Parts: sequence; C-alpha cells; structure tokens
Amino acid sequence: MVFFPSISRTISSSLRKATHTHFRKVQFLSNVPENTVYGGPKPQNPNQRITLTTLRQKYKKGEKITMVTGYDYPSGVHIDMAGIDICLVGDSASMVVHGHDTTLPVTLDEMLVHCRAVARGAKRPLLVGDLPFGTYESSTKQAVDTAVRVLKEGGMDAIKLEGGAPSRITAAKAIVEAGIAVIGHVGLTPQAISVLGGFRPQGRNIDSAVKVVETAMALQEAGCFSVVLECVPAPVAAAATSALHIPTIGIGAGPFCSGQVLVYHDLLGMMQHPHHAKVTPKFCKQFGQVGDVINKALLEYKEEVTNGSFPGSAHSPYKIGAADMDGFLNELQKLGFSDAVSAAAAAAENIQTS
Ligand code: KIV
Repeated sequence: MVFFPSISRTISSSLRKATHTHFRKVQFLSNVPENTVYGGPKPQNPNQRITLTTLRQKYKKGEKITMVTGYDYPSGVHIDMAGIDICLVGDSASMVVHGHDTTLPVTLDEMLVHCRAVARGAKRPLLVGDLPFGTYESSTKQAVDTAVRVLKEGGMDAIKLEGGAPSRITAAKAIVEAGIAVIGHVGLTPQAISVLGGFRPQGRNIDSAVKVVETAMALQEAGCFSVVLECVPAPVAAAATSALHIPTIGIGAGPFCSGQVLVYHDLLGMMQHPHHAKVTPKFCKQFGQVGDVINKALLEYKEEVTNGSFPGSAHSPYKIGAADMDGFLNELQKLGFSDAVSAAAAAAENIQTS
C-alpha cells in the first residue's frame, strides 16, 4: 500500500475565520440557492401576464381560451411554458394528487399549499384557485373570507366556485364586490355528488338543460367573468355560450364553448388516481402517455441500481484532484480506516476506467 503525504495546512486560523464570516453574510443575503449543482428551469416571462382584459380580448376576437389544472411548482412551470391562458388550482387535487375518491376531502390549507407552489412556477397564466368543499357554503361572509385567503395566502388572481343555488349566486356576487374575480362552475359539479347521485352528466333532459343555461346566466349577473360547463351535452353548452356575454370554458361539454379545460393528469395520461383507475372520463383525450413513461423509467432505474450499472462514470461527475486524493487517503490512514483507504483507492481507479 502506497503511503500518501499529507497536504500542508496553509490557511491560517484568522483567514479561515474571515472566510467563514464572509460566507455566512452571503448566505443571509438571499434565500435563492447558488446556481451550482442543481439547475432550474429557464425563467418565464412575467411581462406577458394574462389578465381578465387579455381574456376578454381573446373572447371578443373569438379566439379559444385554454385552461389546464395545476397543483405544484413543476406543473405550474410546464403550463406557463406551454403558453396556457389559465391555470386552475382545482380541488381535483383531492383525487389526482391526494388519492381520494372524490373532491370533498381536500382542505383549504391543503389547497393553499398547492396554490402557493403553482404561483411560484406559473408567472404568465391567470391563476385561479378553487374554493374547496366546506369553505364557502355556510354564509356569504365565509365565502368572502375564504376567497380572500386564496388570493392573499395562495397568490391566486381569481377564484372558482361550484354551483348555482341562490346562496352561491349571492356568495359569487359578494366575492366580486370584495374585489375578487370569480369563475362559476355549472353542469356536473363534483362537490355536489351527494345530491347528484355520483359523477353524472347534467343537462340531459329539458329541465336540467334549461337549468344549466339559467344558472350560467345567474352567475354572469352576479359578476362572474367566466363559467365552467362540465359534462353537459354539446348543444346545451352551445346554448349557454350563445346566451352569455362572458366566456364559457367546457370540460366534457363539446366544442362550442369559448375555451376548454382539462385536468393536468388526465390530459397527460397519468391515470393513477383512484377514481380514474376505475373509469377514464369519456371526454378526456390523452395528449400523452406520461404515466407509461414514468412506469418504464422507474423500472429501468430499479433494474440499473440493482445490477450496479447506475451510476457509471458518466453520472459520477464530481472529481477530486490527485493531491487532495492523496491527502484524503493519508488522513483516512491516520484515522485507522485502512479498508476505507483501499475502497477509495479502488473506486478512484474504477471510476476512471468505467
Ligand atoms: O377541480 C377541477 O379540476 C375542476 C375542473 C374539472 C374544471 O374544477
């Protein structure tokens, strides 16, 4: 075994102390990590921020509005980079992220965590936060208080609420009067599965179809800037879209709406959440098979870790110079770690040749 000379200690203790103080100062100046080991996504351009004005202009010109749900920083970044107009932090988080069977269990505090993460990633789209079940039905005050939290604590630009009962219309009006932009949501309103008897399409008979249109109109009167139409026949959505002078955003409502929304995981083909594992929504086109890609990548990773082929030299990028290596081995030897000396020396040899 070769014996390695120890490197001389050149930094005096006072210099070391000064260096330490300097690093501590720099550390406290910013919470932004140094751009060293981990690279982040390219910054987006917040100058082109989508506002209600942008959406109204698109609507007037007959241009389709795009909306996708997002739940965390990466989905926010992807949605931003794709140039999607609206990112909805939907209470579908309850199902697609938290693994519940319905949207009912997700709490306001959980939603706020999702909102904040999305807001960090999506700088350009209009950000809309869903009011979760149980946080706006009791009173108008409760609805306004919740909406205020979604903006103040969640960093959202607007909120969405479900349903069109008179108390919801009053709540929507009060929230708008509080200075918060509101999207309504009619047709299949998943928070109401208890009374709807499950995830059932709406507007399939005369009464129900008329109700969809009338409810959308009432939400418009209350000051909503847009209405989501979920799981209604295309002609019913077309009628509502024609009757309203605000944009309709369809999901399972056919092509005649002013825009479309899909759940992020559904459109990407990540169908692992409990409800969709049983039944894939008929209206959902999968624009990717990301779930399959994830499964394949995880299996390959497991295989390569198990058989030792990952990480090879290509993915072991950090080098230690020859002199430092000598010094390190020397120190190990002094500490009595002879096996560690052999292991490190063998690894240095091996990583260069692999
Ligand atoms: O929570 C959600 O994802 C939604 C969309 C389906 C509109 O409300």
